[in-house]
Amino acid sequence: MILIRKILLIPLLQVALGESLQEVFGYLGENITLPSGADPSWNLSKVQWSIFSNNTLIATYHNEKANIDRIDQYQGRLSLNTSSGDLAIHNLNAKDAMVYNVDVINTEKKSTKNKIELTVKQHLQKPTIETHTWVPRESPKSGCLVKVQCSSLDEGVQFSWYIEPLSVTTLNTSLPDGKSALLLAFLNNTEHTVKVTCNTSRNIDTASSVVTSKCEDEKTTNQRWSETRNRYCAVIVIGAFMGNVLLISIIHVFGEQKKTLHEKSQLDIKASRNPSDQTIKIDD
Ligand SMILES: *[C@@H]1O[C@H](CO)[C@@H](O)[C@H](O)[C@H]1NC(C)=O
Ligand SMILES: *[C@@H]1O[C@H](CO)[C@@H](O)[C@H](O)[C@H]1NC(C)=O
Ligand SMILES: *[C@@H]1O[C@H](CO)[C@@H](O)[C@H](O)[C@H]1NC(C)=O
Ligand SMILES: *[C@@H]1O[C@H](CO)[C@@H](O)[C@H](O)[C@H]1NC(C)=O
Ligand SMILES: *[C@@H]1O[C@H](CO)[C@@H](O)[C@H](O)[C@H]1NC(C)=O
Ligand SMILES: *[C@@H]1O[C@H](CO)[C@@H](O)[C@H](O)[C@H]1NC(C)=O
Ligand SMILES: *[C@@H]1O[C@H](CO)[C@@H](O)[C@H](O)[C@H]1NC(C)=O
Repeated sequence: MILIRKILLIPLLQVALGESLQEVFGYLGENITLPSGADPSWNLSKVQWSIFSNNTLIATYHNEKANIDRIDQYQGRLSLNTSSGDLAIHNLNAKDAMVYNVDVINTEKKSTKNKIELTVKQHLQKPTIETHTWVPRESPKSGCLVKVQCSSLDEGVQFSWYIEPLSVTTLNTSLPDGKSALLLAFLNNTEHTVKVTCNTSRNIDTASSVVTSKCEDEKTTNQRWSETRNRYCAVIVIGAFMGNVLLISIIHVFGEQKKTLHEKSQLDIKASRNPSDQTIKIDD
């Protein structure tokens, strides 16, 4: 019976008091100011900030004295503005994310309440960049191809690229996993280095990483380039015109040569089986 009464009473009380929940967002390790909601023209005589359903006091102002060292969790991390009633929390941690209550009384005995839900977010992490460079062995001075893969540990980010010098020919695409993006840069004989910035953004938050690649990098891959250069040159030239779909296939060819060959042979097997399957279907 007592339980039922409580369940019924809580929503009724909230409606009666007209309490609304204000949402505030802060970032880990940074500061946030929780607004008291008091009229700025008021002269405050009492401010009480509390947490939990048992209204544990964390910061108070009364008889012109402020007390902001009431509980360990916030030791040395609070500041109370005694003219506005606002409470600042410094060096936010994940445990600070909760609902805060504030009661304010002014010198004319008028009062106001506010309820604030603090959410503590983490900034986007710097994306990681991996590069691979292919230099043609027979004519190492004729330029090179640079593949740049940029990956983020965060969900739902937008990728963008900044390339220097601007004259470098590039192709870009984002991968279907939504967590990485690829860029191919074709450096000719006058463009020996390229500076690539990968930028991730989500709402107002952004992060970026920079890499500088040279045509001289990774000479060990020369052999591979030389063997297959002609084939790739054709693919690249077509790719430059056809865009992203081909870009993905180029990268597959480069990154997973052996695997591709293996898959190809499996495809051949499948293909040779297919005609008989279709015959059966046609008969049906
Ligand atoms: C956060 O608060 C601390 C302590 O008051 C202060 O030293 C620091 O400059 C503040 N940081 C920002 C970004 O306002
Ligand atoms: C607030 O206090 C100041 C100085 O004590 C006074 O001049 C002012 O009239 C007061 N304002 C209100 C709204 O009570
Ligand atoms: C109030 O509640 C919190 C969390 O539920 C608890 O840790 C704290 O001891 C309680 N304080 C009192 C005075 O009961
Ligand atoms: C306290 O709040 C008032 C009004 O918002 C503001 O003008 C003042 O700068 C604040 N004081 C501090 C120390 O932040
Ligand atoms: C890729 O390049 C196209 C233009 O070529 C551009 O519109 C698009 O925004 C780029 N995408 C990324 C993720 O940078
Ligand atoms: C290299 O490429 C850039 C931009 O496409 C072009 O301006 C420059 O003339 C090229 N250099 C040579 C030697 O082809
Ligand atoms: C990332 O890109 C966004 C917009 O696309 C821009 O506002 C932001 O300044 C960039 N950040 C960096 C670090 O380059």
